[in-house]
Amino acid sequence: MNKTRVTVIILFIISGLIVAIGIVGGGPTVKIPADTKPGAEYSQPNEAEITAQTKEMLLSVLKEKYPAGTSARRDAHPLAHGCVRASFQVLPDLPANLAKGVFYKERSYPVWMRLSNGSADPKKDADGDVRGMALKLMGVPGPKLLPDEIYTQDFLLINYPVMPAGSPDEYLALFDAAIHKRPMSYFFGGMPWNWKLGAFQKVLELRGQKVADLLDIDYFSTTPYRLGEQAVKYKLSPCQKKGEYQIPADPTDRFLRDNLQDRLSKESVCMDFYVQLQKDPIAMPVEDAAVRWDEKVSVPIKVARIEIPQQEFNSEKQNQFCEQLSYTPWHSLKEHQPLGGINRVRKAVYSAIAAHRFEQNGVTPAEPFGSERF
Ligand code: HEM
Repeated sequence: MNKTRVTVIILFIISGLIVAIGIVGGGPTVKIPADTKPGAEYSQPNEAEITAQTKEMLLSVLKEKYPAGTSARRDAHPLAHGCVRASFQVLPDLPANLAKGVFYKERSYPVWMRLSNGSADPKKDADGDVRGMALKLMGVPGPKLLPDEIYTQDFLLINYPVMPAGSPDEYLALFDAAIHKRPMSYFFGGMPWNWKLGAFQKVLELRGQKVADLLDIDYFSTTPYRLGEQAVKYKLSPCQKKGEYQIPADPTDRFLRDNLQDRLSKESVCMDFYVQLQKDPIAMPVEDAAVRWDEKVSVPIKVARIEIPQQEFNSEKQNQFCEQLSYTPWHSLKEHQPLGGINRVRKAVYSAIAAHRFEQNGVTPAEPFGSERF
């Protein structure tokens, strides 16, 4: 077969897939009961089992990757660009429905911000990947949902608005296919009308993202959280996009860290933190993290400003401190309780993975307070 014919056939298949995404609707989607109420959660009957299986699978992958005697890293987002100091400044005069939890009144919290690449097997920075932004607010009063940290509130975000698999069973099936080195079987298993084309498209987009400046892009929680009685998602955006950095023509493996350090050695950086209210429990579901909440229907509302001061962050000691932090959406006030199946699974998983890596590395976990300097 000549080259042109192969290209035509490939183009034909790709356009067929795109049309099919439109027709099939891109499933899988979670069935949302017609009478569901705003903010309501409903777990799947076998969720406890799915959670246990997810946890065991992640732990076994981790143990295989980092055998006893080696230094264990995070299962997801192991590659940190750095942990930088910041402050989280709650805006004054928020309306009563938003002035809950850490947003209760105008005040500032110290933050450790961890920036990461998502891939479990670290890729070069120039490769497409999902980027993580984890915020740990410190000095937060009030009872927490997990016992291991007393004064912290964590927010975890990525640079993509949805998860490819929106519920615990779908996440487990996708993960299971991936670790058995047959990821395509998840997307293209069974008859064509059961293919998970929407999830496939999301994975391609999510993992294909190339970035030059980690502080110049939007981040999303993807999953919902409680805010008082309502459900919200979080979003974080640069106060002003600058576009000053490009991916170098001949990039080093870790140029994102260099760009970050270059920028922070010259200036402080400002980002805005938003909440997006759930306006419709069906179109903006709590239990399906694969569904994007339409920003035209519910415009994100600015509730805090994050200031990242000019700084040097790239010392060995600070990087080691960064490695020894643990972030989980369940380091949280009950006013910000994580919602939905994916978040419920994360409760058991993050604690177990962090406990395992700390034990293997002989580290006693210590809650940070924000005054650490290196
Ligand atoms: C069932 C779904 C998920 C599972 C099983 C999972 C698993 C994990 C694990 C095991 C870690 C490493 C934890 C540690 O060792 O400290 C991690 C880190 C992370 N995850 Fe997830 N994750 C899930 C969903 C999500 C979602 C929906 C987001 C969206 C924001 C997310 C964002 C992150 C980020 C940003 C980190 C890095 C945290 C840090 O900097 O320490 N994950 N995830």
